[in-house]
Amino acid sequence: MAAPGVHGGSMALEIDLELLKEFEKYLDPRRPEQSRIPARVLGYGEISTVFEIGDERQRDLAYKRMPIFEKAEELEHYEATFNEYCRVLIEEIGLELPQYGYASLSADEGRPVMFLAQRKLPPESIGNKAIHLLDRDDTVRLIRQVLRELKKLWSFNVRSGRLELGIDGQISNWSIKDYTGGSCLGSEIELIYFDTSTPFLRIDGAEQLDPELFLRSAPSFLVWVLRLLFLEDVMTRYYDFHLVATDLVANFYKEQLPDYIPALVAEANDFFATEAAELGIEPLSEKEVRSYYREDAVIWSLYLNARRIDRFLRTRLLRREYPYILPGKIKR
Ligand SMILES: Nc1ncnc2c1ncn2[C@@H]1O[C@H](COP(=O)(O)OP(=O)(O)OP(=O)(O)O)[C@@H](O)[C@H]1O
Ligand SMILES: [Mg+2]
Repeated sequence: MAAPGVHGGSMALEIDLELLKEFEKYLDPRRPEQSRIPARVLGYGEISTVFEIGDERQRDLAYKRMPIFEKAEELEHYEATFNEYCRVLIEEIGLELPQYGYASLSADEGRPVMFLAQRKLPPESIGNKAIHLLDRDDTVRLIRQVLRELKKLWSFNVRSGRLELGIDGQISNWSIKDYTGGSCLGSEIELIYFDTSTPFLRIDGAEQLDPELFLRSAPSFLVWVLRLLFLEDVMTRYYDFHLVATDLVANFYKEQLPDYIPALVAEANDFFATEAAELGIEPLSEKEVRSYYREDAVIWSLYLNARRIDRFLRTRLLRREYPYILPGKIKR
């Protein structure tokens, strides 16, 4: 097994490995904020949790804890894919990422746990916060800018040949540079993409990301259903610009801003017909966005409930450890 340690991309950050070890050792996944090493949750995603950990010195870092690996080889393969994904996003596609690095350590029973670290971005600058502060025109401009960033990726996919990347373009994965609140954006909108922990990367058509990793945190009684019904869909939809744009617009339902949808559908379709015409993307429809959202909301809330049941079964009945952190109620 490779020695656990601090690794980083070309943009390494000051990661405090001792602090992470202590954090992991005393972490109560049920109450992460009450652990011996202080931690604050910055955001819950569908499968992982992002924290601020420790004292002042680490205040400018955001850590994503990933307890999904079973063997060192899995972690090593993931690290290689993650590094290549970030490299291509930055150097070949031209997206801006926050400074990042990562560290891995072995937790109980030798299971590797990985912590991805990123420079912490201002909370208001994250898309799903910003859209509640911005006025309508600038929200629409913001979405167009997200589409422009996404287009860079699909243009790369067309010209690259050997490599193909996927991306989760939803609004909560972008930070607006130099924005700290207020109803307006500057004349140029610059975006930072930060949800790099699911490195969708195909080399010569072969998927590099092990889809089984997604299933690790899934309830054991659901694994076979998920594998059968959803895995294929999850592994392909992020490579499809039409679906990624549908997801981006559908986020406004989840964010309780449904009356933005018609304007955003129109904006996306204008973008696809003009600036991105050469990619030949199918236009969106409001109907499709709505049914996409309904289906997505149902799936994720069923899934989260199933995970809570799984946690109950594992900890109360089987008296085993449950290593994952689950969010509380999510409003949809
Ligand atoms: N570098 C950061 N600075 C500030 N907040 C962050 C940072 N990274 C993540 N967050 C917060 O945590 C939330 C979840 O992070 P992220 O999108 O990276 O993970 P995720 O959605 O859980 O990903 P996945 O679903 O692929 O596991 C973000 O929407 C944001 O609110
Ligand atoms: Mg995310």
